[in-house]
Amino acid sequence: MPSFRAPRGTRDLLPEVSSSLNRLEGIARSLAGRYGYREMEIPMFEQTAVFERGIGEVTDVVEKELFRLAPRTEEAEAWALRPEATAGIVRAFVQHGMQTWPQPVRLTVLGPMFRYDRPQAGRYRQFWQWDAEAIGDPGPAVDAEMVEMGYRFYVEAGVSDVQVLLNSIGDGACRPAYLERLTAYFLSHEAGLPELERRRLEMNPLRLLDSKDPAMTALVTTAPRIGDCLCEGCAGHFAAVRAHLDAIGVPYRVEPALVRGLDYYTRTAFEYYRRGAEGQQQALGGGGRYDGLVELLGGRPMPGIGFALGLDRVLLALDETGATAEGVAPPPLAVVVGADPADTVTRLRVASLLRAEGLSVRAELAQRKLGRQLETASRDHAHFAVIIGDELNEGHVQLKDLEAGTQRLVPLAELARELARAAKSHHHG
Ligand code: HAM
Repeated sequence: MPSFRAPRGTRDLLPEVSSSLNRLEGIARSLAGRYGYREMEIPMFEQTAVFERGIGEVTDVVEKELFRLAPRTEEAEAWALRPEATAGIVRAFVQHGMQTWPQPVRLTVLGPMFRYDRPQAGRYRQFWQWDAEAIGDPGPAVDAEMVEMGYRFYVEAGVSDVQVLLNSIGDGACRPAYLERLTAYFLSHEAGLPELERRRLEMNPLRLLDSKDPAMTALVTTAPRIGDCLCEGCAGHFAAVRAHLDAIGVPYRVEPALVRGLDYYTRTAFEYYRRGAEGQQQALGGGGRYDGLVELLGGRPMPGIGFALGLDRVLLALDETGATAEGVAPPPLAVVVGADPADTVTRLRVASLLRAEGLSVRAELAQRKLGRQLETASRDHAHFAVIIGDELNEGHVQLKDLEAGTQRLVPLAELARELARAAKSHHHG
């Protein structure tokens, strides 16, 4: 027999982890609601061009990490699994004419993303993001609000030691001059550049600053900083974002080397790290402003800002601090057992009836003696056992309180109401 395993870089989320992820998604949904973001879904795959144009062709995400789908026919369009949500959301924004909606349009997406990355702890080929985007507001207040919403997520999730790193990476007015300086700098050190970075220097010099190659660390540290080259508009915007963050009490640290790894960013860029892990490549989340992206994907010019928080990394952080969610399944209110082990039909029918009334009920389907059935009911920490016996001929069942040890006869027609009342008085079910 072959032994099948989950693909490299993916993992099964067993119920305990899955319930922790659900808890995080619940916090995200609650925050999104409070901040006025509306949830939507976008496809898990798009035309490859959406990512190439949106994220940028000369980026790690597109060059190395895109999960391209093999076309089934010659003329088929090229598709790829989504490595992130922003490009797809903006594609949808343009496609559905959201420019005409009241601005800004606040949207959020929760779900798995796919990157063909080299797997390691905290870096997976399928991972979960909470993504939020505000499209149509040039900032700076919405920038601060976005940074704050992400920060609050970590607080509410229980990751207490999160640090916001903040930078401005300029715009079309000031970036060209900066890129010239940057290119000249790296050219003067060309001999020390790894092959990939040498090639990128011509195409996209900014990407050298977020290179994952350890050989680049020293060179990047002494490279010219975009912050020293900001135009008046960008410098003013950055100062105003900081002033808003100060005013609402969100702690942050300006990090002049922060440039992010995707091409669509302009002006505000930010990342969330656990304190002490800032230098590493394992950000808990990140985002920024993308004032050119809507136009790039075929819409009329429209500013935007957003973030994506990596939920897998939050789960890892919570694991490390021991703040995991409860792992056990909630006990059923009642288990339906029967004197006739073979009569699974009646047990299933009674359980089904109770569940239709909204009660959490398990039917004992193993064909064991009544005593053994009652044992598993107690083991499951059920509060009640519904015992089916000969009384059913007169329309009655026994209702046994497994905690109190008491038992009484209840008409089947009143069973759901009885159980619901008991559940309420026991804060149970
Ligand atoms: P990103 O920085 O590429 O930004 O990803 C955001 C977060 O997703 C990362 O900080 C990390 O926590 C998580 N993440 C990324 N790759 C992996 C992986 N292979 N395994 C586990 N977690 C991962 C974006 O995706 C942008 N779309 C954010 C954005 C939204 N900017 C504007 N709007």
